Amino acid sequence: MSIVFHEEKKIFHLYNEKISYIMMVLKNGHMGQLYFGKRIHDREDFSYLVENYSRPMGSYVFEGEKDLSLEHVKLEYGVYGSSDYRQPAVEVLQENGSCISDFQYQNFSIEAGKPKLEGLPATYTEDDKEAETLIITLKDNLTGLVLKLCYTIFSEKGIIARNAHFCNTGKESLCLTTAMSLCLDLPDYDYEWIQFSGAWARERYPKVRRLEQGIQSVGSMRGHSSHEHNPFVILKRPHTDEFHGEAIGFSLIYSGNFLAQAEVDTHGTTRMLMGIHPFGFKWKMEAGETFQTPEAVMVYTDEGLNDMSQIFHKLYQKRLARGYWRDKTRPILINNWEATYFDFTEERIVEIAGKAKECGVELFVLDDGWFGKRSSDRAGLGDWVANKDRLPNGISGLADKVSRLGMKFGLWFEPEMVNKDSDLYRKHPDWILQTPGRKNSHGRFQYVLDFSRKEVVDAIFSMMDELLSNAKISYIKWDMNRSITECFSTALPADRQGEVFHRYILGVYDLYERLTSKFPEVLFESCASGGGRFDPGILYYAPQGWASDDSDAVERLKIQYGTSYCYPISSIGSHVSVSPNHQINRSTPLYTRANVAYFGTFGYELDLNKLTQEEQEQVKEQISFMKKYRELLQYGTFYRLSSPFESNITAWMTVSEDRKTAIVGWYRVMNQVNGCYTRLRLQGLQEELEYEIEGSGRSLYGDELMNLGLLTSDPTSGQPEEGEFPGCDFDSRIYILRAKK
Ligand code: DGJ
Repeated sequence: MSIVFHEEKKIFHLYNEKISYIMMVLKNGHMGQLYFGKRIHDREDFSYLVENYSRPMGSYVFEGEKDLSLEHVKLEYGVYGSSDYRQPAVEVLQENGSCISDFQYQNFSIEAGKPKLEGLPATYTEDDKEAETLIITLKDNLTGLVLKLCYTIFSEKGIIARNAHFCNTGKESLCLTTAMSLCLDLPDYDYEWIQFSGAWARERYPKVRRLEQGIQSVGSMRGHSSHEHNPFVILKRPHTDEFHGEAIGFSLIYSGNFLAQAEVDTHGTTRMLMGIHPFGFKWKMEAGETFQTPEAVMVYTDEGLNDMSQIFHKLYQKRLARGYWRDKTRPILINNWEATYFDFTEERIVEIAGKAKECGVELFVLDDGWFGKRSSDRAGLGDWVANKDRLPNGISGLADKVSRLGMKFGLWFEPEMVNKDSDLYRKHPDWILQTPGRKNSHGRFQYVLDFSRKEVVDAIFSMMDELLSNAKISYIKWDMNRSITECFSTALPADRQGEVFHRYILGVYDLYERLTSKFPEVLFESCASGGGRFDPGILYYAPQGWASDDSDAVERLKIQYGTSYCYPISSIGSHVSVSPNHQINRSTPLYTRANVAYFGTFGYELDLNKLTQEEQEQVKEQISFMKKYRELLQYGTFYRLSSPFESNITAWMTVSEDRKTAIVGWYRVMNQVNGCYTRLRLQGLQEELEYEIEGSGRSLYGDELMNLGLLTSDPTSGQPEEGEFPGCDFDSRIYILRAKK
């Protein structure tokens, strides 16, 4: 890995074995982008890559000259208004009303490793040899605004992390109205754009489109990254598939409003932008003040989408997630939400926990309804003290009972919210986000606390601290069940209202940071009505997230498959729930529900007492299977093999680091009569090793399994023999492969 500066032509070349990233100082002092892709040779002079033909209708930056139009060059951090007509990476409103700026190259520095982003989640290094960071300083001389563009190249794999930092060194106050985390101009538009979109209960479905002249984008203006779109997109070549071809993944480490956008211009270049959504964003910088953008991560590969995903998985598992739980397999939990909803007593909870313990579950999680006057979603949020009518021994009493059963205890919170029917709201009605003189829209009868205010975050911290300090709590489910409306903080002046969305998220991160620092061994699981804030920003604090409120196994195939494009399996909260399923009313076999949930953190979302004896025995087997294989399931190399979006069959697999053990998940949505002969070509095995396929009496070489494939034809889809099970809809199988000694 190296960062080279070629002095004479002022060219920067960042490279490792996989990638090259090249930029130069253009003759007008701006930073030009020259190349990002597969590693190429270094040379003194790459300036031949600056294509700048004189064009009809061009606008040029030097008077009387026709050879530098910002419209026609690729830029590192484009500014609108001086001959670049594409959407800008930065826009600065000045006191005189002008939005033009002119960031001139000043100097650069190179640091070993990666500097920390204060107050914001970001990737990190543990050893300075893991990465190098280039910081390029530019300055808008008229206003004195200094801009630092930061690029970290990791030593392994095609990863570049970026962010921008501003400092107002001038005398007048300035207002940032756009400040993106990354801007990448690519020389052509022969790409397909993949976004991960959906809605509540069907989050992160991949949607593919060809790039065309014009703009396409996804984003969120809801105050959280959202169910609708994820801050992750891919540009891939049209022929790229899971195993071959070029792709660039763009991921924003941020949980608030975001924009991810590709603009193809008139001459076929593509500008990729990613960062805080400029809509509603206005950040005031008085003289001397600073602002930093969140971090964006770009991953380049020429080995297909699985390779790109595996790079993200490893980076986010090992160098984004932190702390005690980062490398640990996750406890098998049971959550009472779908078992009881708001209708429970301490006795009922202990009964659910007791049966769960008998089956081998390790952690009991008490969901919504344990606090204040919370007997429905109309009251109680904000009053984080146990409801003694339901829990006469309080949380510590219940936690003790659960712990005496031999299980850990976890608790649900929704720290950012308040019901009007709560003591907290009655005491502090001004603590919610609300616009003076306007009605407040609610979501699920709840209002959003103004986390841009430190005193609000302090108050919630002290309530949670009290509980965590006095009860045996090992896990927190941090929920967030509505988007922001009437966004306005009564604590900020008029000219700072455009900061509220971002300050809110900074407040959320601050609370997470304080809690995770004070209680480092508590496992945090994020949730936002399921997958409404499943993003890398939250992953920095909470190493796992409830991927969706849809717990149906067939729906989960799509959700977990889509989620796996960016996020590691160890981060995907997945549970076995009752059948018929509560969200979609579908009945699926218990084994299929478990076979899907194994590829995630694994747990149960039902009352095991209500299962038959036979089902309870199945659950015991599932739990011992998960205990045996969870290291491999959660931390192995994950491959997508067959997509639920394209086929009746979904298949995926995970392979151990030494490539000697693998687990394959195979799922068929609809049964077929007299079905076809089928094979599944596996990935990631060692060609020359012979693998036993557990339970089949057969051993095959890695090259057979990867080229001929694993036979998956279902003999029972023909004429069943006596006593044979004739297959069924929503069928599934798990194959375990072990290399022979
Ligand atoms: C939404 C979550 O996604 C559910 O799992 C559950 O915790 C409810 N909120 C509780 O209100």
